[in-house]
Amino acid sequence: MAVPFSSSWPGDELEQQVRVGFLGCGTVGAEAVRILVERAEAIHRYTGIDLAVAAIAVRDPARDRGLDPALFTADAKAVVEDPDIDVVVEVMGGLEPTEELVAAALESGKPVVTANKELIAKRGGSLLDVAERANVDLLFEAAVGGGIPLIRPITESLAGEDIRRVIGIVNGTTNYILTRMTEEGGSFDEILADAQHLGYAEADPSADVDGHDAAQKAAILASLAFGTHVHADDVHTEGIRAVRGRDIGMASRLGYVVKLLAVCEFADADAVSVRVHPAMLPATHPLAGVRLSMNAVFVEGVSAGEQMFYGAGAGGGPTAIAVVGDVVDAARNLVQGARGPHVARAEVHPVTDMMSISNEFYVRLEVMDEPGVLATIAGVFGGHGISIKTVIQEGREADAEIVLITHPCEEAAMQATLRELRGLEPVEEVAAVLRVLGEDEG
Ligand code: NAP
Ligand code: HSE
Repeated sequence: MAVPFSSSWPGDELEQQVRVGFLGCGTVGAEAVRILVERAEAIHRYTGIDLAVAAIAVRDPARDRGLDPALFTADAKAVVEDPDIDVVVEVMGGLEPTEELVAAALESGKPVVTANKELIAKRGGSLLDVAERANVDLLFEAAVGGGIPLIRPITESLAGEDIRRVIGIVNGTTNYILTRMTEEGGSFDEILADAQHLGYAEADPSADVDGHDAAQKAAILASLAFGTHVHADDVHTEGIRAVRGRDIGMASRLGYVVKLLAVCEFADADAVSVRVHPAMLPATHPLAGVRLSMNAVFVEGVSAGEQMFYGAGAGGGPTAIAVVGDVVDAARNLVQGARGPHVARAEVHPVTDMMSISNEFYVRLEVMDEPGVLATIAGVFGGHGISIKTVIQEGREADAEIVLITHPCEEAAMQATLRELRGLEPVEEVAAVLRVLGEDEG
């Protein structure tokens, strides 16, 4: 248990030793342990709390990690149940066995800090209920935006704000891949291998590339921003595998950049839309300049207007700083017999079906270069009530490439148009479809 700690720091009555148990010591955990050990004195000076890393559960406790081998165990349950551990840090990842371990820690009255967005996005509702019943903290600043302070600003500083929209680049791996494809034209697989080497990617990088990691973060952001509960499965999710260098180049020619965006907004007075997909952004948009593994999140509220949070969104160091901040917070609350702010979940907002959402679209078609083809294609768009804003046609011997940008139209109308286009004889391929963020959005 937290024990009195003797020191000359003023306000000695608050001084405690708080013992921290880690579940996981990989990219994030190893950095968090390092910071807690190396910055222990500074943290003590700031907070009056003596934080001690007391146990670490890993898969392979025999591996040399440059720390006292006596700290390591393969038994994560033993760390959670150890009566000498005051705060549990979960940086193992995944749902099993983490959900059970985190619930057990909370039930036994131990605050938990986690960087695990999958756990929060899929099991956050029930785990927050457990934390509330046990009157302990469940903190997850590191789960969205890596080192960017985002969860605390949304839940505390903006507690009185009527947030209408949150739009962001929340996956470092895909932003790193898209940035390098844009700037160097490199190969997808080679750039992904670099992102893995740099510690940005998830254990299974398809979580990044197919948009699931960003969808989990979007679910968390939407839940917190709108005070409701959005599950990761409610998020319309598309990744970046279909994004081609050709479209990145065409976007640039037209004054856009391609980014994987998380968009959470009120679709009408009541329902919300939460979606993750690649999109073309005007090159002048502030999110367009967010490069490599950096993340940025725009929050639009009724009173404060637009705010942008920017910083390192992935990697051991930045994420570990967010974990350590939560550990300090949890320890501070523990020694004061307090608890951090309640996470508001009182509102009930249905999540709108993607088919009713409107966007501008970029469509690239490979067609036969014959008289009347462009008119036929324009007729298909018109037949579904879609107005075309821009057309570029380039001939290549017997074939041609047609690139169109539409005015805003509903997803359902665009999908019906694409189905009809795919059935037309002169249309060889619908080669690319990207949503386009309008000039007035953010
Ligand atoms: P990682 O490098 O794969 O580390 C996972 C750690 O957990 C390793 O130390 C592993 O032990 C341990 N572990 C896994 N299963 C275990 C089990 N059943 N029992 C005991 N220990 C177990 O993962 P990471 O990149 O640090 O990510 C950890 C969490 O942070 C994930 O939820 C991830 O989504 C989240 N996160 C990561 C980043 C990032 O940039 N990497 C950013 C934000 C959030 P061994 O060392 O023995 O293999
Ligand atoms: N794999 C994640 C990313 C780590 O690339 O953003 C940070 O959550």
